Amino acid sequence: MGEKKRILSGMRPTGHLHLGNLHGALVNWLQLQEEYECFFFIADWHALTTDYASPTSIKENTYQMVIDWLSVGLDPEKCTMFIQSEIKEHAELYLLLGMITPLAWLERNPTYKEIQNELQQKDLATYGFLGYPVLQAADIVIYRAHGVPVGKDQLPHVELTREIARRFNFLYKQSVFPIPEPLLTETPLLPGLDNRKMSKSYDNCIYISESNEETLLKVSGMFTDPQRARRSDPGNPEICPVFAYHNLYNNPERIEKIREGCKTAQIGCVECKKEMGDKLVAAMTPMRERRHYYESHPEKVREVIEDGISKATKEARITIEKVRQALTLS
Ligand code: TRP
Ligand code: SF4
Repeated sequence: MGEKKRILSGMRPTGHLHLGNLHGALVNWLQLQEEYECFFFIADWHALTTDYASPTSIKENTYQMVIDWLSVGLDPEKCTMFIQSEIKEHAELYLLLGMITPLAWLERNPTYKEIQNELQQKDLATYGFLGYPVLQAADIVIYRAHGVPVGKDQLPHVELTREIARRFNFLYKQSVFPIPEPLLTETPLLPGLDNRKMSKSYDNCIYISESNEETLLKVSGMFTDPQRARRSDPGNPEICPVFAYHNLYNNPERIEKIREGCKTAQIGCVECKKEMGDKLVAAMTPMRERRHYYESHPEKVREVIEDGISKATKEARITIEKVRQALTLS
């Protein structure tokens, strides 16, 4: 246990997870749990930085996300799963790191401006939103994590975390925090039903929590190569979202057959979608079965979270004690 490197990552509770989330992060987490000591948490306080005016769904979204994590196969025997707001030490460290973080580092953070522009309807000129990366830094270093698996968009935050950790170690002349490495997640291209990026706001998602029937219905209505108007027209699989799914869910021989069949108009889109839908649903069935199990055993979900909270608390307390000592607070 003690020899394994420690990995930490978090997700904001956005609600039900879709296949974009699965391939964008969770598939990677599933591998990591086999090799590393993993801490995965739901960043519910981070959700408040943008949703402070309407926080009511955060709790339910958090719960649904834990069930999705368990459904896809994150294993409580292998990784520690918990909820950020249950570990108050994150808040203490956030406050203390805030003391040493130069304002300029936060003001020049590219995501700060970007998200503010993206979410114009929300007033994000708040102290909490500016401080988002300091909270994230606290999340990471409080577990003395070595690696942080994240997508490209989060790299500036991990870089800031490294700077804050270095500054702390330098100011108090102790290596309290290891300097965490970002582990960039390579994500295969998985478009939404309409061939745009899969996103809740586009209403083009396949959700882990939906039924196989719903998935099959959605697949049957998916966009294909728009140039292929008639069955007798040859198609271009490389631009077709259905083919992107074959690439992930079908076997190599069939993928080649379909590629050729599409280009030579030997295979029709209806049958092509049917085959893909069957493969997809076969891969999702075990996840959906696990979901049903946890939905009908809420006490098991509670137990996973409680266990995670107690393991995380133990580690967080060790760090916070070192921090207090470094600051001569205790
Ligand atoms: N900011 C991350 C996101 O939006 C979520 C997050 C919060 C996180 N704290 C973290 C990710 C710590 C990795 C490590 O996706
Ligand atoms: Fe897409 Fe398949 Fe139709 Fe080709 S045959 S355009 S890959 S759905």
